[in-house]
Amino acid sequence: MHAAWFDFLGVFALLAVFGAVAILSIVLRELAPSGGLTGRGRYLLAAGMGMGVLAFAAKASAIALMVAMPQATLTQLSGLREVTRPARKDNFAPTYPRRSDSAQKRRYVWAALPVVAPAPEADPVSPEKVALGERLFHDKRLSLDRSIACASCHDVHGGAGIDGRPTARGIGGQLGGRNAPTVWNAAFQARLFLDGRAASLEEQAKGPPVNPLEMGMHSLADVAARVVAEPDYRAAFARVFGAERQIDIDVVVAAIAAYERTLITPDTPYDRFVRGDPRALDAAQQRGMALFETLGCVVCHVGPNFSSASVYDTGAPYRLFPAYANDYTSRYRLLEDVGRSPDGSRRGLWRAPSLRNVALTGPYFHNGAVDKLEEAVRIMITAQLGRRILAEPRVEQLAYWSAAEQGWRHGARRAVTEDDVRDIAAFLRGLSGDRLQAVKRLQRDASLTMSHTGRPAGVEGRNCYVNRPRPVV
Ligand code: HEC
Ligand code: HEC
Repeated sequence: MHAAWFDFLGVFALLAVFGAVAILSIVLRELAPSGGLTGRGRYLLAAGMGMGVLAFAAKASAIALMVAMPQATLTQLSGLREVTRPARKDNFAPTYPRRSDSAQKRRYVWAALPVVAPAPEADPVSPEKVALGERLFHDKRLSLDRSIACASCHDVHGGAGIDGRPTARGIGGQLGGRNAPTVWNAAFQARLFLDGRAASLEEQAKGPPVNPLEMGMHSLADVAARVVAEPDYRAAFARVFGAERQIDIDVVVAAIAAYERTLITPDTPYDRFVRGDPRALDAAQQRGMALFETLGCVVCHVGPNFSSASVYDTGAPYRLFPAYANDYTSRYRLLEDVGRSPDGSRRGLWRAPSLRNVALTGPYFHNGAVDKLEEAVRIMITAQLGRRILAEPRVEQLAYWSAAEQGWRHGARRAVTEDDVRDIAAFLRGLSGDRLQAVKRLQRDASLTMSHTGRPAGVEGRNCYVNRPRPVV
C-alpha cells in the first residue's frame, strides 16, 4: 500500500479519537447539565455531534491524502491526462488549420536506422557477393569508353556517395540533367531514382550502364559480355553464384545491389539520440528536431530513412515539388524538369528523398541548383509547407472559413524565423554518419586539393582513408 494511504488513515484516526474524547467531555460535562438532558438524550446529542466531527475528519484526511500523493497517481485516479508544459522556446501556439482529430491522435514516433539493410530473399547478401559487387561498382570497364564507373558519380570510398557536381557527368564529359543522389542508405528506399522510377536496387542498376549520357553501353548484354571477358571475374562469379550459372546482367546487378546494401550509415548522432543518448544532439539540434516534426517535414521525410518512399513507409512516395507558389522556383529553375509529371506540366512530381547525410551531399534538389543546406531548408519551408520566414519571432493571426460551422474560425501560430532555419539545418547535420564525417574532416584538415570527386587530387582507385564500408553498431 502507498505511504499516502497511511497518512490518510493516520490523520483520520487521530482526528476521530480527539473528536470523540472532546465531544463526550463537552456533552457530558457542559451541555447535558446546562440543557437539563439525562439518560439516552445525552448520548444521542453526543452521537449527533460525533457524526459531524467524523465527516470533518474524513474531509481533512482526504485533503492530506491528496497533498501527499504523487502527481501521477492523482492524475491516474482522476482520469485526467497529465499536462506537461513545453520548454519556453518550443511553446508554440497551435497550428491552423488544425489537422484532423485522427491525425492529432497519431503521435509521431522517431526511430533509429537498423544496423543491417533489408535484402530480398532472391538476392541475399554474403561477404563474397559484396566484395564482387564492390569491384563491379568501381570498374570503369563497364562503360563504353572504359572511363566511367558507378563510383565516378557515386564516390563512396572517399566521399558521401556523390560527385559533388550540380548535375552528373558521364562518358565523353557529357552533362546529364540531374543531380546524382548518394548511394548511401539507398538500400532502405522502396523507390529509387529522383523520380522513383525503379522499385529495387537491382532494377536501378540496369539503368546507368545503358544511359547514353552516363556509361553509354549499347545494351545490357554488352555489359555482361564485358564482365565475361575478364577471367578473374568469371572465377569470382562462379564462386558466388555457382559454376553452372551463366553470367548475365541479372547476376551482375545482384552483386552490385548486395554491395549497396552494405552502404548504410546507422552511425549518426541522431541514431544515438533516439537510441537513448540525450547528449548526442545539442540543444539547437533538438529544437530543430522538434521543429522538423511540428512544422510537418515528417509528412514527407518520415521514418528511419527520412523518406515517404522508404521500405518503412511506402504510402505516398511521390510529392509535388514545389507544392506552393514561391520566389525560389524561378530563381533556381525548379520547374524546368518536372520529374514524373508529363512534359509541359506546370507542377513537378518527385520521390520524397531521404535526408540522411544530407549535410554532406550538396548541391541540392534534382537540378543541384542550391548549394547551401540552410537555403534548401528555406525552400522546403516556403515551397513545401507554404509558410513564410520572418526575421522576428512573432505570432501570426489567422482566420479561416469553417464550412462545417458556417463561420470564421480564428487561430494563431508562431511564425517561422531564421533561427528556426538554423536549428533545422543543425538537426539535419546530426543525420551524417560518423565515418563519412570523419573522411570529410580529414580532407578539410589536411587542406588537400580536391578533385571534383571530393577525393584528393592524384589519389585514384581505392581510397586511402576508409576501409570497405560495413554496418556500424
Ligand atoms: C554519370 C554519372 C552516374 C553514373 C556513372 C552512375 N550513376 Fe547512379 N545516379 C546518377 C544520377 C544523375 C542519378 C539520378 C538520376 C535520376 O533520378 O533520374 C543516379 C541515381 C542512382 C541511384 C538511386 C539513388 C536514390 O536515392 O534513388 C542509385 C542506387 C545509383 N544511381 C547507383 C548507381 C550504380 C549502381 C551505378 C553503376 C552501375 C551508377 N549509379 C552509375 C549518376 C550516375
Ligand atoms: C510535401 C512533401 C515535403 C515536405 C513537407 C518537405 N519536403 Fe523536403 N523534399 C521533398 C521533395 C519531393 C524533395 C525533392 C525535391 C527535388 O529533388 O527537387 C525534398 C528535398 C529536400 C531536401 C534536399 C535533399 C537533396 O538531397 O537534394 C532537403 C534538405 C529537405 N527536403 C528538407 C526538408 C525540411 C527541413 C522540411 C521541413 C521544413 C521538408 N523538407 C519538408 C518533399 C517534402
